[in-house]
Amino acid sequence: MTAQAAAAPRPVAHRLAVLGAGVMGTGIATLALGHGLPVVLVDVDRAVLAQARDRVAGQLKLATMLGPSGGRAGTGVGTGELATTMDLRRLGRVSAVVESVTERPEVKAGVLAAASAAVPGGTLLVSNTSAIPIDELAESVPHPADLLGVHFMNPPYLIRTVELVRGRRTGDPAVAAALSLLSALGREAVIVGDRPGFVVNRILQRMVNEAARVVEEGVATADAVDAVFTGCLGHRTGPLGTADIIGLDNVVDSLTVLLDRTGDEGYRPCALLLEKVAAGELGRKTGRGFFEYGGAR
Ligand SMILES: NC(=O)c1ccc[n+]([C@@H]2O[C@H](COP(=O)([O-])OP(=O)(O)OC[C@H]3O[C@@H](n4cnc5c(N)ncnc54)[C@H](O)[C@@H]3O)[C@@H](O)[C@H]2O)c1
Repeated sequence: MTAQAAAAPRPVAHRLAVLGAGVMGTGIATLALGHGLPVVLVDVDRAVLAQARDRVAGQLKLATMLGPSGGRAGTGVGTGELATTMDLRRLGRVSAVVESVTERPEVKAGVLAAASAAVPGGTLLVSNTSAIPIDELAESVPHPADLLGVHFMNPPYLIRTVELVRGRRTGDPAVAAALSLLSALGREAVIVGDRPGFVVNRILQRMVNEAARVVEEGVATADAVDAVFTGCLGHRTGPLGTADIIGLDNVVDSLTVLLDRTGDEGYRPCALLLEKVAAGELGRKTGRGFFEYGGAR
């Protein structure tokens, strides 16, 4: 099912609040701005927020160069206006809140509770969680019918397909609003069930963990692991290159969410992943993870 196919017929003037100005928050802001939607971007970290404009500007250029329509930002129609704030209570009038803060259940619960207090009931609340069930996050908001999951892929301004997760208490108007928003963003939704990790991360995070374990055990180097996946299986990126794009801190957080909710030891973050995170080797965003990069991105 595509967002376009199921979108509401009436165009809606969307204005987004994006919570979290990290890898995904700035990416989602880039996607929205490239499609002419105004965005208010929120973060608790002043330094992160100060860099956000430059990051978004750089990503808009990249989206224009690499976007599928060639020459327009991720198939965008224009550039919306970007505002930034550290005050979650000052979101203004928004059609949707997209939560994309750190993958820690207690952090997300606090942010979602504060955000839902800052907007009228009936405003679409989206979580970009990688692995936490929407039913669980719904415990923190006064209007659970407004909440659903949209798992954007990284980078969101280049990848057109998202997982859409409907919780047990998600209402039909929220699903319709999300499909309308995704249509305005030129994204297609695949609807998946509300289980830890949904589909992509239930499978991908285990694969990343196993790939890291292969390196940890000395079975193969990181280069060799990824060469097998790209060369033999035709994957565009190997699991360890993918982990570096995601951010190894986020990989460990997502594995922990999966382990805690399933009890499946395959999700226990391996020692090498934990060591890299402790050493600040988080992947592309710090310039080094399993591989080295020219500069932090
Ligand atoms: N990195 C990926 O490839 C990827 C892909 C899809 C989904 N996600 C999910 O997106 C979310 C964000 O991940 P990320 O990779 O952008 O992480 P990140 O670490 O790059 O950014 C998270 C941001 O959230 C901010 N934050 C923390 N607490 C906050 C609060 N109380 N209020 C406002 N901001 C707060 C942090 O300061 C940080 O800037 C996570 O849920 C993650 O699982 C990540």
